Amino acid sequence: MKKLVLITCSLLFSISTLVASEDWGKTGHRVVGEIADSYLSKKAEKEISKLLNGHSLAFVANYGDDIKSDRHYDSYGPWHYVNFPFGEKYETYPKSEKGDIIQGIDECIAVLKNDNSSKEDKVFHLKMLAHFLGDLHQPLHIGMEEDKGGNDFQVLWFKKGTNLHKVWDSQMLDSYEMSYTEVAANSDVLTKEQVKAIKSGTAVDWMYESRALCEEIYSNTEIGEKLSYNYMYDYMDTLRFQLQKGGIRLAGLLNEIFD
Ligand code: ADE
Ligand code: ZN
Ligand code: ZN
Repeated sequence: MKKLVLITCSLLFSISTLVASEDWGKTGHRVVGEIADSYLSKKAEKEISKLLNGHSLAFVANYGDDIKSDRHYDSYGPWHYVNFPFGEKYETYPKSEKGDIIQGIDECIAVLKNDNSSKEDKVFHLKMLAHFLGDLHQPLHIGMEEDKGGNDFQVLWFKKGTNLHKVWDSQMLDSYEMSYTEVAANSDVLTKEQVKAIKSGTAVDWMYESRALCEEIYSNTEIGEKLSYNYMYDYMDTLRFQLQKGGIRLAGLLNEIFD
């Protein structure tokens, strides 16, 4: 009997790890939160600290993934990404009725801007927004339905079987072996003008940047390819810049919301 329970438990565990695909991974989302924390206006910092009981954006940045295993939150699953065919435009391609990352971000902003929203609703949508700005900058989250944003695109990462989505979510950054504070602290130094340029535009504009990267990644990667150091040489700076832009833009949105 004991053996049966053990086997059932380990089976359930393996199934849950197979099903629960995460995003950027813990480190990536925290880097985005940490960078955003450093670009907040005094006013936004104060309001956010009140809502988060003194916690930082880095601290709550993984909330969107943490709730995925609770079926009460299933309806938020499609808000983490958007899929449409290469060569198509988001605006003209039929939208998912279940929502997507752009609809999710818009909803979070609307709740935070609404004076009639409850504190509980604002806290929830603030944590979700901090997460989705990260996802928006993961190129494979602006993917294609056929392979679920690269989740079905099998590759090898340092000789271990995995998929392209996971390489971009977490494996490349994990191979770097830096903490989220170290990655954030070592972001590229930017001029005021560069920061201003990064902050400009809309979530849809930022999504198209990720989409362009996604298309580039697909044209440079083959199914079954053995990815290792060369892939890091090619893409680590791009990945770090995506995280940096995600952080700067998250702060830009929050500064505007809490102004
Ligand atoms: N599931 C289906 N498509 C996905 C995508 N593009 N990103 C993350 N998860 C997905
Ligand atoms: Zn992901
Ligand atoms: Zn996510």
